[in-house]
Amino acid sequence: MQHKIISFSRCLLLSTILLSACGQDSTPIPDESNPTITSSLDQIISQSKITVYKSPTCGCCKEWVTYLQDEGFTVDSIDHDNMDEIKNKLGLPKPELKSCHTAVVDGYIIEGHVPANDIEKLLTEKPSSIKGLSAPGMPVNSPGMASRIPKDYAVLSFTETGETAVYSQY
Ligand code: CU
Ligand code: CU
Repeated sequence: MQHKIISFSRCLLLSTILLSACGQDSTPIPDESNPTITSSLDQIISQSKITVYKSPTCGCCKEWVTYLQDEGFTVDSIDHDNMDEIKNKLGLPKPELKSCHTAVVDGYIIEGHVPANDIEKLLTEKPSSIKGLSAPGMPVNSPGMASRIPKDYAVLSFTETGETAVYSQY
């Protein structure tokens, strides 16, 4: 008799679990403002470690590293005395693309004061034709420089052979 009661309650428990799991699956999730999309982007950012090579004396490079950390990136910052050597080694295709620091994330080169949202877009879309992004020179109103909100400059994408295109215009 007792055995029967136990198995009945087990069955009830099981069907309750199944029902609730089923209920979760069938709940429609709105596309916009979907928290799972936001959290997967957060996951992409925090899981993609970005390695930043910079000169030990560069102040704006340090600021850019802090900015990336504030944006949720895991940053490995490495000081190097000869940045040209790093840029050549990593394969920055043209001197016109040069800035101060050079970063690498998921095999892409990020040269200079590139805003976080461009890096996020790159990591989300993972284009195979692009070798990296660059904010050539030192744009005044860029993250790590005078303004975290990018203004009055373009971020370029570049291929392995040095073909460039405007990736973002600020
Ligand atoms: Cu700089
Ligand atoms: Cu820098």
